[in-house]
Amino acid sequence: MILAIGRPAVILATGRARGDLPIGRPDGDLPIGRPAVILAIGRPGGEGVMLTGVPTILITGGSGQIGAMLRPRLARPGRTLRLLDVVPPPALAGAPAGAAEEFILASVTDCAAVTEASAGADAVIHLAGLAGEAPWDRIMEINIQGAYAVFEAARRAGVPRVIFASSNHAVGFTPRSAFPVPDYAFPAPDTYYGVSKVAAEGLAALYHHRYGLDAICIRILTCDERPTTVRSLSTWLSPDDAGRLFEACLAAERPGFRVIFGVSANTRGGWVSLDEAQALGYQPRDDAEAYAAEIIAEHGEPDPADPVLAYLGGEFTRPGLDADHLT
Ligand SMILES: NC(=O)c1ccc[n+]([C@@H]2O[C@H](COP(=O)([O-])OP(=O)(O)OC[C@H]3O[C@@H](n4cnc5c(N)ncnc54)[C@H](O)[C@@H]3O)[C@@H](O)[C@H]2O)c1
Repeated sequence: MILAIGRPAVILATGRARGDLPIGRPDGDLPIGRPAVILAIGRPGGEGVMLTGVPTILITGGSGQIGAMLRPRLARPGRTLRLLDVVPPPALAGAPAGAAEEFILASVTDCAAVTEASAGADAVIHLAGLAGEAPWDRIMEINIQGAYAVFEAARRAGVPRVIFASSNHAVGFTPRSAFPVPDYAFPAPDTYYGVSKVAAEGLAALYHHRYGLDAICIRILTCDERPTTVRSLSTWLSPDDAGRLFEACLAAERPGFRVIFGVSANTRGGWVSLDEAQALGYQPRDDAEAYAAEIIAEHGEPDPADPVLAYLGGEFTRPGLDADHLT
């Protein structure tokens, strides 16, 4: 049986992950969490395929934007991507034949459900949560409790590695004068969201030092299909480079605890260190400069006096995200 999950699982559909997964929407009243709800299961294509390293990867928040970028790029024959999210993933176009996917409908804040989902996994990629600023209570519940649940679930289930999608906003108030921001730079969060990334990095350190987990925190800059602003000409992480970076984090031998940055090889980059990411084997190939003319025609040349360019965190450092404005 493809699933090694302790509690009973409801399997709604099975199929091959070839870009046409028969993923259906669950009934609105399906319980989130326990029992785990598996909406779609693919089987590794072909008999006797060699297992690629890291055969089973749990991806929390796998239905989101970065999840959609990583699914086809991390798919390998002999590898299963197990997605956990509060919403089903969009159907995947262009997945290489042989990829296998599972989906578990659960909240990342539910440690028991995440522990079940972690059973038999070789690594966890933790993406789930609020991807921007929000009131403190929601940040605390979803991002901080969620990160705790993921690390604790990995410990309980014996998963040896967690790769955490941290953010540049953990050090968003680092001024231009301090660029390039070094790996492991001391926290300077620009928002409650940034604080939640710092908290999760703290959990990563704790679970590494106390329990021996390999824990890699990637302070991602701007991961998008393409750059859309003047700032992102410097901060863009392309989907292909994101795939390369996460694969490097999966493949590195005994990386221990790392705090690295995630960005492409942008001509206007140099805002952050890539030393530690490259030490793990990451080699970025994409450059936002290919979009520069178009973006500058729309937004004008970058103005060094623009407050959005004063700190690494850009717009997140501006008064618009003061607590008074959060709802
Ligand atoms: N996209 C970027 O530029 C960027 C930059 C830095 C960091 N990050 C981080 O990367 C991660 C993924 O970002 P994204 O751009 O894909 O965001 P996204 O909002 O598209 O995806 C987040 C996913 O998490 C899921 N989710 C939310 N609450 C959940 C819960 N309680 N339980 C389970 N799943 C839950 C959502 O349904 C969604 O599918 C986030 O942690 C974000 O903070 C993203």
